[in-house]
Amino acid sequence: MALFKGKNPTAETPALDDNFQHIAFIMDGNGRWAKKRGMPREFGHKAGAKVFKRICEHCADRGFRAVTVYAFSTENWKRPEHEVNALMELLCDYLDEFIENHEDYKSRFVFIGDLSPLSPTLREKIAEAERINADSPRIINIAINYGGRAEMVHAFNTLAAEGKTTVTEEDIARVVYTHESGDPDMIVRTGGDLRISNFLLWQAAYAEFYFTDTLWPDLTPEDVDEAIRVFYSRKRRYGGL
Ligand code: FPP
Repeated sequence: MALFKGKNPTAETPALDDNFQHIAFIMDGNGRWAKKRGMPREFGHKAGAKVFKRICEHCADRGFRAVTVYAFSTENWKRPEHEVNALMELLCDYLDEFIENHEDYKSRFVFIGDLSPLSPTLREKIAEAERINADSPRIINIAINYGGRAEMVHAFNTLAAEGKTTVTEEDIARVVYTHESGDPDMIVRTGGDLRISNFLLWQAAYAEFYFTDTLWPDLTPEDVDEAIRVFYSRKRRYGGL
């Protein structure tokens, strides 16, 4: 099965319909992008954050109702302290950026993951950012200290605390972090690796996957359009014929 599809930038991008309302990104390749330029990895994350904004704006313009990005995984704490600190600082800066220029994003920010180990300053800023654009119909989910397995544990514990001894799929869908935006229709992974890396394990059940060698800081709105074209070239059968 072809995982990659050739780029065809002159092709028309179909308008989105109800089948394609939520796109998710595994933003991989920042470190390699920086290394190619002889720069520290943090430089790549900085470039990646700029691209995050451009891609969010483009997704809003295309009409996506939800965008989910994997910004920091439960496993990313294993990185050297200076890189973890740089990522947290960058996040803080982007929260300021969002708070100041929230109209550009045309969306509401929702932070998904276990935010409890984050610094109080960062958590306060997150809470402030989440209050902005509260009535926007569009959501940008930012996954921080997120892991799909940890999310399942959190979901089951939430349901147990409600007193449930058996659970249904609907129960789980109601308590996963993305309950407001639903499941992604497509998951895009940049950076060339063909794996899910503990991202949206529950929600990915019927997602289309789109893998590209392009490193995250090189991703362009045209690449998103290409992913949209690929989505509409695929047949989704949900187990049927
Ligand atoms: C993976 O690339 C990327 C990350 C762990 C961080 C992603 C963060 C950003 C794009 C910027 C901040 C985000 C927001 C929401 C403002 P990698 O470092 O593993 O790259 P590599 O595979 O080349 O080493």
